[in-house]
Amino acid sequence: MTNISMTNESIPVVKPSMPPYEEYIEEIKTIWDNRWLTHTGPKHQKLEQELCEYLEVNNVSLFANGHLALELAIDGLQLTGEIITTPFTFASTTQAIVRNHLIPVFCDINENDYTIDVEKIEELITDKTSAIMPVHVFGNVCDVYKIEEIAAKYNLKVIYDAAHAFGMKVNDTAIGNFGDVSMFSFHATKVFHTVEGGGLTYSNPDYSERFAKLRQFGMEGQESVPVVGTNAKMTEIHAAMGICNLRHIDEMIANRGLAVNRYRERLSGTKGIKLCDIQENVVSNFSYFPIVFDKEEFGKDRNEVAELLEKHNIFARKYFYPLTNEFSAYSGLFAIQDTPVAKNIADNILTLPLYSDLTLEEVDRICSIILE
Ligand SMILES: Cc1ncc(COP(=O)(O)O)c(C=O)c1O
Repeated sequence: MTNISMTNESIPVVKPSMPPYEEYIEEIKTIWDNRWLTHTGPKHQKLEQELCEYLEVNNVSLFANGHLALELAIDGLQLTGEIITTPFTFASTTQAIVRNHLIPVFCDINENDYTIDVEKIEELITDKTSAIMPVHVFGNVCDVYKIEEIAAKYNLKVIYDAAHAFGMKVNDTAIGNFGDVSMFSFHATKVFHTVEGGGLTYSNPDYSERFAKLRQFGMEGQESVPVVGTNAKMTEIHAAMGICNLRHIDEMIANRGLAVNRYRERLSGTKGIKLCDIQENVVSNFSYFPIVFDKEEFGKDRNEVAELLEKHNIFARKYFYPLTNEFSAYSGLFAIQDTPVAKNIADNILTLPLYSDLTLEEVDRICSIILE
């Protein structure tokens, strides 16, 4: 029998947070009693209400996952033509645009926090542009004030992909209040999750009815179908997971913060390793911990470091890589803009393990291997 020592234990890149088992069982008991499994049931309503409070927003609509929420946000806002976005994101952002038969126009990112470079947005606006779809990445937020200014100047809608930004604030304003709509992913690996799930936040109360129809086959009541919709409802079983996880969210985020601080202590100042800037006046949720390698200075590139970690049973991820403007699915469909800053970051970035019960000893183990 092999003796696997503690120091060789596997460390995944992410690990879902789980509420105490008994708490979840208690929460779902009423579902067995009332047999209300889906269709905006009591758990769904409760979670929507609690998320409004936690996220400090006026409206939340829940969906089966973040991606469908994003697709339906674009649909619900009746966007047309071109949408300016960044390619340094998960497939979902760009796919949501293309699946709505719209054209993504790729704007480069800035190299300090990897969000959209607001200085490069205006040159991409044409008479076909209907919206900007920026992405808050890794627990960093976009320059929401400048984006608001540009959107007002050109009369554009703004939909934020806030999949990574649950619970964040800028200058004391909760992040879901910026733009027309923000999409939060509640996927199992996110800071807050409902196993699969997603939510849209918005201040215009008229959107609520529109989103409700779109996620329920375009139906209004039993007999009227006024819009083309799909099925994107969140179930009661999933909402119950969200209700439980929300009770523990502050502790989960605080634990992530401890791990991130330890990573920073150990890795900052290392030649050839670049950490994200810490954004001023931003309450982060510490959703990911990316580092960018400069092979010339560090001596190894990110692929070599990823392989080395893997040999020690530690799994980091090339995230985001590849850029979405390199997807073969889009070749020949529309013009693809060059985004050199995003390209350089995607080619050299590695996201290190981070989850709420990652211990400081495990962070030390990871850092020691990298610094070896
Ligand atoms: C940036 C980004 N956008 C969109 C999504 C899609 O969310 P979901 O997995 O909930 O569909 C994700 C996560 O998976 C994401 O990381």
